[in-house]
Amino acid sequence: GKVVLAYSGGLDTSVILKWLLEQGYEVFAYMANIGQKEDFEVAEQKALKIGASKVFIEDMRKEFVTDYIFPVYKANTIYEGRYLLGTAIARPIIAKKQIEIAKQVGAEYVSHGATGKGNDQVRFELSYYALNPKIKVIAPWKDTAFLNAFKGRTDLLAYAEKHGIPTKQSASKPYSEDDNLLHISHEAGILEDPGHECEDSIYSHTVSPENAPDKPTKIKIEFKDGIPVKVSNLNDNTVKTDALELFEYLNELGRENGIGRLDMVENRFVGIKSRGVYETPGGTILHEAHKDIEGIAMDREVMRLRDMLSAKFAELVYNGFWFSPEMEFLMVAIDKSQEVIDGEVTLKLYKGTAYPIARTSPSSLYNQDLSSMDIEGGYNQEDAEGFIKINAIRLMAHRNIIDKNN
Ligand code: ARG
Ligand code: SIN
Repeated sequence: GKVVLAYSGGLDTSVILKWLLEQGYEVFAYMANIGQKEDFEVAEQKALKIGASKVFIEDMRKEFVTDYIFPVYKANTIYEGRYLLGTAIARPIIAKKQIEIAKQVGAEYVSHGATGKGNDQVRFELSYYALNPKIKVIAPWKDTAFLNAFKGRTDLLAYAEKHGIPTKQSASKPYSEDDNLLHISHEAGILEDPGHECEDSIYSHTVSPENAPDKPTKIKIEFKDGIPVKVSNLNDNTVKTDALELFEYLNELGRENGIGRLDMVENRFVGIKSRGVYETPGGTILHEAHKDIEGIAMDREVMRLRDMLSAKFAELVYNGFWFSPEMEFLMVAIDKSQEVIDGEVTLKLYKGTAYPIARTSPSSLYNQDLSSMDIEGGYNQEDAEGFIKINAIRLMAHRNIIDKNN
């Protein structure tokens, strides 16, 4: 049969490619370019040399920004209050194209190199099944024969050596990374002990905040329907309006100013706790700016409901339910909440923080006359007396019961 393998160019998926060939499959290698640092040319040659029938290299950076990153950021999506989902949101876009290629080449199978202990296997496979209920999945890291053959890294290296698979580039780092336009994650290996500090040299998408410039960078982000449409650097007048360029520019600004580092222990969907170190430079700036524009333009009760939905949205993204009826339902609600989220936020980027300092909005609900300490406006302060007393009724009833029982 034919199989489309999500190929990374690294040791694991190179061994998997060869192993699939040995099992008698015809293998199509597929690489999604979602902004990771990678020499696609070299990886392509490597896959062909191992024996792939064809290598698909798909540039999906723009679609990643407009159809995945922006929808997630307009929902203020954040997992367990901290993680900005950089790996989680990359999985459905990779899976979607993989299923399309499988259809194109008439493959019955798809395969990936994620382990049986993590989130990624769930995200890939749920997406595959949701998009093509007939698809068959080959996950070597859950296959007994494969697991018996490869007990550890030494076995992988020995096998690679035996079959002339180059291992030089892949032998280097003693931890695992996942890199894309939105973030880079560092985990496992020497980072497994959460009591042990992550060395500064491991970070690669941000300078450390203490080494960031002493002078703040002021920028302005313009939003339309909760989506950033323009970024202006107020220091040097750089302006970006194209979605991909704008996001890459936010990454550059975040990187220079040491913004978006996170070191946390999180709960994987499979029930295991895991320590992850993340860098999300542009995403962090966007997240802060978006919350700020909502502050001025979003109705209070819509915001309360949206906050409840954001947590659910994050859980769905994290757990791999991007292509699901509940996600479609949530997305409609989020889109509705963003219809008036327009305007501009000015931020100061400085030594690890993205700090909003001013905002304006054509749909502003802010009324200076109402909130002012000085002006009377259309608000009768005497009305507040009754408002407070009525709210106090049940507090007083509660106090009376406590006093009676003591
Ligand atoms: N823990 C993060 C997540 O579950 C990052 C996973 C990184 N994946 C990887 N294949 N290195 O989203
Ligand atoms: C993996 O297990 O393949 C990477 C980590 C994860 O998916 O959570």
